[in-house]
Amino acid sequence: MLKFASPRLDEETIEAVAAVLRSGHITSGPWVERFEHDLSSFCEGRPARVLTSATAAIEVALQLAGIGPGDEVITCSQSFFTVLNMIVKVGATPVFVDCEPVTRNLDLEQARARIGPRTRAIMPTHWPGSLMDLDALYGLAKAQGLRVIEDAALVIGSRWRGHNVGAVGDLVTFSFHPNKNMTAIEGGALVVNDATEARRVETLRFHGIERLADGTRDVAFPGGKFNLPDVNARIGLAQLARLPAFLAHRRALVERYFERFLTVPACELPPRPSAGDGMSWNMFCVLLPLPELRMSRKAFRDALAARGIATGVSYEALHLSTLGRRYGYQRGDLPQAERIAASTVTLPLHVDMTLEDVDRVCAACAEVLEQGRAA
Ligand SMILES: Cc1ncc(COP(=O)(O)O)c(C=O)c1O
Repeated sequence: MLKFASPRLDEETIEAVAAVLRSGHITSGPWVERFEHDLSSFCEGRPARVLTSATAAIEVALQLAGIGPGDEVITCSQSFFTVLNMIVKVGATPVFVDCEPVTRNLDLEQARARIGPRTRAIMPTHWPGSLMDLDALYGLAKAQGLRVIEDAALVIGSRWRGHNVGAVGDLVTFSFHPNKNMTAIEGGALVVNDATEARRVETLRFHGIERLADGTRDVAFPGGKFNLPDVNARIGLAQLARLPAFLAHRRALVERYFERFLTVPACELPPRPSAGDGMSWNMFCVLLPLPELRMSRKAFRDALAARGIATGVSYEALHLSTLGRRYGYQRGDLPQAERIAASTVTLPLHVDMTLEDVDRVCAACAEVLEQGRAA
C-alpha cells in the first residue's frame, strides 16, 4: 500500500531519541530549549514556543490575543476542524468566509466585508503551493486594528518575499504532526512578537502557573497542559535540520504530478509551481470532475485503495459541520469551499515516495477516471 503520508525518521534521529530516554530527563527540558532556539533562528529571531500540537498552539494564540466570549474571529471554511474548534473553545464566535477557487486561501475581500464591531482577529490557513498575500492581509488587519493568527500547519518552509513563513507577521502556528513537512511525532509551535508574549505562552501552556518570589506558586487563570516533552523536541530538532531536503524531495514529486497529470484530463489541480516561487508542498489535492464522472468520490477512492494507493479528503467545509451550522450557516453560503469539499481528493505525497510512485498514482487515476466516465 502506498501511504498517503509518512514521516522519515532516520537511524541518527532514533539514536538521538534513545540518548534522551537514557538521560533521565524526558519531559520538557534542554531539548525543548534547543528546538525553540533553532525554530526562532528559522523565524529570523522572532520568539518561538513549542507545544503538544498546533491545535494547542492555536488555542494559546487565541488566549494570548485576549479573545473570548463576545468576540468574533474571521476564518475560512476550507480548513481543518481545529480552526473552528479552538475559536469555539475559547468562547468566541467563528465568522466564516469563502476561499479563493484555485489557491483555497481565505478570500480577503469577503473578510473585509465581514468585519464588524466585535471582530477581533483574522485567522487564515495557508495552503500548500501558495501563501495568502501577507501584504494585503496585514494591510487590512492593521487598518482595522485586528490581530492575525496565521495557521501555517501545512506550509512550514514556504517563503514570502525572501522570508520564511513565521519570520514576519503577528502570531503564527506550525504543526509537527506526522503528515506535515516535518514531525515531532506530535507537536506544534507558536511564533510570537516579543519576550513578553513568549513568557505569557509559557504560562498558558503550563497550567497558568506563576512562580512567586517566596518559592510558592499561584494561578490567576485556568491554563492548559501543553508542554512538549524533550523526546518530541529532540525529533523536531533533527527534522528541522533536514527540512530543506524534505521540501526539495516533496517539490520534485509535485513537479512530476504536474507533468503526469496533464495526461489525466478534467481534474482541477492546485497552482502550478514556478521556479523560485519559494512555496512548500505538504499535500497534493485534486478536484474530481464529479458531474461528468458517473462515480462518487468514495468509489474513486475505493478504486485507488484497491490498487494499493491510499488517499485522503482535505477538507470538509467547516461551516457545514454540525458545529459550524450552529452559527447559522447552511449549504449554498460559501460555494467555493463547498465545491472543493465535495470533490477534493488528497493524493500520496511524502519523502519516502519515488517519481515512479507518482507515475503509478497518476496511471491509476487515469484508469479509474476513464472507467468512471464510461460507467
Ligand atoms: C490546516 C491545519 N491546521 C491545524 C492542524 C492541527 O494540527 P495538530 O494535529 O498539530 O494539532 C491541522 C492538522 O492536520 C491542519 O491540517
